[in-house]
Amino acid sequence: MQRMLDQAVEKVRARDSRRPAVSLILGSGLGALADEITDGVAISFADIPGFPAAAIAGHAGRLVIGNLEGVTCAVLQGRFHMYEGHDAAAVALPARMMMSLGASTLIVTNAAGGINRSFVAGDLMLIDDHINFTARSPLTGSVLEGETRFPDMTEAYNARLRGIARAVAARQSIRLVSGVYAAVPGPSYETPAEIRMLERLGADAIGMSTVPEVIVARARNVPVLGISLITNLAAGISANPLSHEEVVAAGTEARGRFTALIRGVIREMDIDNA
Ligand code: HPA
Repeated sequence: MQRMLDQAVEKVRARDSRRPAVSLILGSGLGALADEITDGVAISFADIPGFPAAAIAGHAGRLVIGNLEGVTCAVLQGRFHMYEGHDAAAVALPARMMMSLGASTLIVTNAAGGINRSFVAGDLMLIDDHINFTARSPLTGSVLEGETRFPDMTEAYNARLRGIARAVAARQSIRLVSGVYAAVPGPSYETPAEIRMLERLGADAIGMSTVPEVIVARARNVPVLGISLITNLAAGISANPLSHEEVVAAGTEARGRFTALIRGVIREMDIDNA
């Protein structure tokens, strides 16, 4: 994994030598934010060693390096999932690469189903904490350079960044709920019985991503901000069947609010963009 990571970093550096301050992972339906990057250089996942080509609708599958709010960002438009057959370390490779390029903050976003009964489809949820129901870790195996064997997960989602996100949302009158994200392997959506179980166990939202990337960030002591778009109410909470089309459509609808929130956070993070 270390060698694969080094090769990926080397390849990207050869294409663009800028050192990103912030890394951003855009979830299903949320990739449009990458189009707002200025002076962007895009590198297809297929051109990066060790990266399988991303293949699902709503995921473009490229890395974009460029400026957002005057900050050099590395942005993943699309990501890999365990349900595509990748292990957790392969899923986390792009996040590791962005941090190895220099990014000292990670912003993760995803599409999620709403379990908390006060949520409505279209809500943005600040991730306060997560529950890893995938039973997998990207840290399995040898310890990579700059990572720790047993990372503390007490503040997996950085309190200062969460405060900034809340302040930005309040100022811009963007409804921002918060809660615990439960990660499952997928790819089938859950049964109503599974959702009732997860509700009792303290989950507010559910999805099939994000946790591997957050774990590698914590192993590197990189602070994380996580935002879920509640694309649908989870099975049994909603009377309707779930579909991937619904998930992508919710992203399109939320585009303006989502973009304003992320831009506002990046503006106020007070990043050292040296
Ligand atoms: N369950 C799991 N993953 C999801 C969902 C859901 O309801 N919505 C979007 N991603």
